[in-house]
Amino acid sequence: ASAQAWRDVDAYFTAELVNEDSALVTARESGARTTMPNAEVAANQGALLGLITQIAGAKRVLEFGTLAGYSTVWFARAVGNGGRVVTFELEEQNALIARENLDRAGIGDRVEVVVGSAAESAASLIDADAEPFDLVFIDADKPSNPKYLAAALALTRPGAVIIIDNVVRDGAVVQADSDDPRVQGVRTVAQDIAAHPDLDATAIQTVGEKGWDGLIIARRR
Ligand code: DHB
Ligand code: MG
Repeated sequence: ASAQAWRDVDAYFTAELVNEDSALVTARESGARTTMPNAEVAANQGALLGLITQIAGAKRVLEFGTLAGYSTVWFARAVGNGGRVVTFELEEQNALIARENLDRAGIGDRVEVVVGSAAESAASLIDADAEPFDLVFIDADKPSNPKYLAAALALTRPGAVIIIDNVVRDGAVVQADSDDPRVQGVRTVAQDIAAHPDLDATAIQTVGEKGWDGLIIARRR
């Protein structure tokens, strides 16, 4: 199939099945004003993240990489009333955009946007013995994936779900000798997951509006 056919199918199912209200549309479109335009998940992927959150019964979600808060809105709605989302964003400018989007979406009060290095922010939570998270979404700088997985493991308990975005990158992931640190960040985190005695995991490839990419989905035993 052609890339256009994949996009057409994405558009078809998104139109049929995915209900983006105006706050989600605004959040998605505001991604253009962030430091990484167009890096937010696609609408159907946001819906998938929300569904996984609900299927897992997750009430506390930790996100590495906020940008404009588009996936954050999906998580915050999925955790429901009384749920909590903590999301790490390096850039103050992005965080301000995210804050507007979260408040507009009506779930701002259940989301904490933490500005700064995600590694440092996670270390602070670990030091503070933060209440464990039920689901962690790793979607920040890709070379740091292994560090973020280690932090996610320190901040979760058995049963927790860990999802990693952008693990395919147009197929680049299979280049073992790649000198792209983003590719090595995926390959190393995949090895770390494989070597961990208590993680079950798989990867799914995605095609369509965001090109050819994919997610690792893992669960702590
Ligand atoms: C990039 C990062 C993302 O998280 C994404 O979803 C798409 C692209 C990037 O680093 O280019
Ligand atoms: Mg991503």
